Amino acid sequence: MTRYTGLIDQYRSRLPFAPEVRAISLGEGRTPLIKLENIPKDVGFEGELYVKFEGLNPTGSFKDRGMTSAVTQAVHEGSRAIICASTGNTSAAAAAYASRAGITAFVLIPEGKIALGKLAQAVVHGAVVVQIQGNFDDGMRLVKEVAETAPVTIVNSINPFRLQGQKTAAFEIVEALGRAPDYHCLPVGNAGNITAYWIGYSEMAGMETASNSLPVELRKYSTAAVVSGRPKMVGFQAAGAAPFLRGGPVKEPETVATAIRIGDPQSWNQAWAAQKESGGWFDECSDEEILKTQRYLAEKEGVFCEPASAASLCGALRDIKAGKIPNGSTVVCTLTGNGLKDPDIIVKGGLQGLIQVPAARSAVEKALLDRLS
Ligand code: F0G
Repeated sequence: MTRYTGLIDQYRSRLPFAPEVRAISLGEGRTPLIKLENIPKDVGFEGELYVKFEGLNPTGSFKDRGMTSAVTQAVHEGSRAIICASTGNTSAAAAAYASRAGITAFVLIPEGKIALGKLAQAVVHGAVVVQIQGNFDDGMRLVKEVAETAPVTIVNSINPFRLQGQKTAAFEIVEALGRAPDYHCLPVGNAGNITAYWIGYSEMAGMETASNSLPVELRKYSTAAVVSGRPKMVGFQAAGAAPFLRGGPVKEPETVATAIRIGDPQSWNQAWAAQKESGGWFDECSDEEILKTQRYLAEKEGVFCEPASAASLCGALRDIKAGKIPNGSTVVCTLTGNGLKDPDIIVKGGLQGLIQVPAARSAVEKALLDRLS
């Protein structure tokens, strides 16, 4: 057994890093691909339905995959500071990987609109946290403007090294299944992740894609085919923040799934390319549906993801029920972040099952027996 040291060491031959480049890693990647058992039975689905639980990465989201590669490259190039706009998870990851590398992280977050756990992460890792009186899209615009003159490296997904790290999730899925799934469903906000998965699946199949934004001269890595075939890519947005459904930017995006409260996705063209090349589609989920699915997954399967993540399963189950995803298919849903980042949303939804009793044996016994009868 050799110790797992993170995804750059694991996949270096398939990433744009020469052997001598030192990886800045927290052991990200290798997240479980959990086969759902109770939900498929519940909905009468006879295929295979998996969740890739990215909430088990070091900072609790898939962003760690992108951040290990973006920060590794930034440090390799001699950068002393990184900057990002974020709805919370990117800033948590940027803060953690910057502290690991001994450099400074500047993070711009929309005031009052990020989950408390994510804000705590940015603070505890020592990032410079700039709360802006605007949304993510405003933050993204400001980051691009500031980086024109300030000596900082942008680590949002417009940095092509971010997507290089994130593509490894597709590698892991192909390795686990021995093939590509038929359908891959995921939540879409800034649209980097759907793009990254498509790059990853394409490289596993030895195929080209217009989604890859890494300059060709930097693609000195293997794209040898491991399997044939790629999945249909299906992206789900929150109904109040669904530019891909509206056909253009949404001015005032609004959703309880704050992680994907984005109206002007940066990877617009690459995400469309992924959808078109794969024969997939975009759809939207209401806030109510998203929160219902988050609880349903937690109650039925023991997996607690954050609201934005539940959009993938929410949409997949709807399409399964409608027959749009045929019965018998192999389906993977990415659960992008950990539910523990945002306990408020559960508390707000009501603490069902909470019983208050006096500290007496008889009272506790009665509470148990009432429940079992
Ligand atoms: N799910 C979660 C939990 C996220 O944090 C994000 C994006 C997405 C899905 C959407 O992924 O942007 O690649 O389409 N969060 C970013 C952030 C924007 O700042 O943390 P995407």
